[in-house]
Amino acid sequence: MKILVTGGAGFIGSNFIRYWLKKYPADSLVNLDALTYAGNLENLSDIENNKNYKFIKGSICDDNLAYDLVQDLDLIVNFAAESHVDRSIMDCRDFITTNVEGTRTLLEAAKSASRRNGKIRFHHISTDEVFGSLGPSDKPFNETTPYDPRSPYSASKAAADHLVRAYWHTYELPITISNCSNNYGPYQFPEKIIPLFITNLLANKKIPVYGQGKNIRDWIYVDDHNAGVDAIIKRGRLGQSYCLGGNSELTNFKLTKKILSFMGKGEDMIEYVTDRPGHDLRYGLDFTKAKNELGWRPAVNFNDGLKKTIAWYKNNQAWWQNIKSGEYLEYYKKQYGQ
Ligand code: NAD
Ligand code: DAU
Repeated sequence: MKILVTGGAGFIGSNFIRYWLKKYPADSLVNLDALTYAGNLENLSDIENNKNYKFIKGSICDDNLAYDLVQDLDLIVNFAAESHVDRSIMDCRDFITTNVEGTRTLLEAAKSASRRNGKIRFHHISTDEVFGSLGPSDKPFNETTPYDPRSPYSASKAAADHLVRAYWHTYELPITISNCSNNYGPYQFPEKIIPLFITNLLANKKIPVYGQGKNIRDWIYVDDHNAGVDAIIKRGRLGQSYCLGGNSELTNFKLTKKILSFMGKGEDMIEYVTDRPGHDLRYGLDFTKAKNELGWRPAVNFNDGLKKTIAWYKNNQAWWQNIKSGEYLEYYKKQYGQ
């Protein structure tokens, strides 16, 4: 199979490329990535010489580039996005451009190439945040939950999901969508809570918990997400969405306590800071459809995955120390006033 992976220099995309080339070494992968602040080719330094892998620096919003790249493809997996909720709250322009307009550009290129060369499969990576926010005792989201995005980030992802489905209904472009919960694991940019807290603690710095730490997220190890995407690509029904959840709902406070305890630190390292505006209380995903139709379920136990992740950040300090300077430091100061 010839596959275009977009956003493959980011956290989940780079783990996906590594996963895919290991499992399907005969497939060839092109990684299209704009190398924004979140894109880092070091994430793929171990496979950069693989003869079935090629990197192209460019934007998914570039019509001509997208059109050229999709010729002769079997599959597009669209990871490329602006992914951080707090950044979308500060300024959402890039979120609309990449997440909405970029997705449209890829869909249009896939549609045109499909007309001439046969159908190109399009798998779109989305999020559970498009469903809104759950109350403490609500049932978890599933594929039939109405969309109710509440941050500029989730609104842009919801818009993209609607467009992807519109290309299925209108043009019969063979699409699938995955809506996944909060990922963690190696190579995650240290602005998201788990790598931020681990790297702060490794540097003996305080960790900023928003509000009172009561918000709940459902955590999934990145390889489990990518195994779910694999299952959808191989066995998913066209035109369908699949929810990929981690079966690991935790309040941010409980998550923080686990990180502190696994790193041998005390609660005095917590700093309670101003809450995120419009902070969604709870995400949780019911993945029965993926389990029944695809035989997929998350395999990594949260405590094991978290310990593995902490060990990775301990053993790869140069990777994150490089990142936590320059533009990141400016962002961090703006965000937390430190
Ligand atoms: P990330 O921010 O780590 O990586 C995003 C990548 O996209 C970067 O390499 C960046 O350079 C690239 N990119 C940004 N704009 C681009 C453009 N215009 N053209 C080409 N490349 C561009 O993000 P991530 O956490 O790896 O998330 C990947 C995808 O998974 C996103 O679509 C996100 O919405 C979705 N998702 C993330 C999570 C999570 O917990 N991180 C959960 C569910 C879904
Ligand atoms: O649910 C899937 C989504 O998960 C993805 O679609 C997004 O791309 C991804 O960024 C993530 O969004 P969240 O906003 O849930 O992730 P974040 O790591 O930013 O925050 C997780 C929780 O931790 C959230 O309740 C806010 C809180 N938090 C976050 C940071 C960065 C803190 O308390 N302190 C922090 O410093």
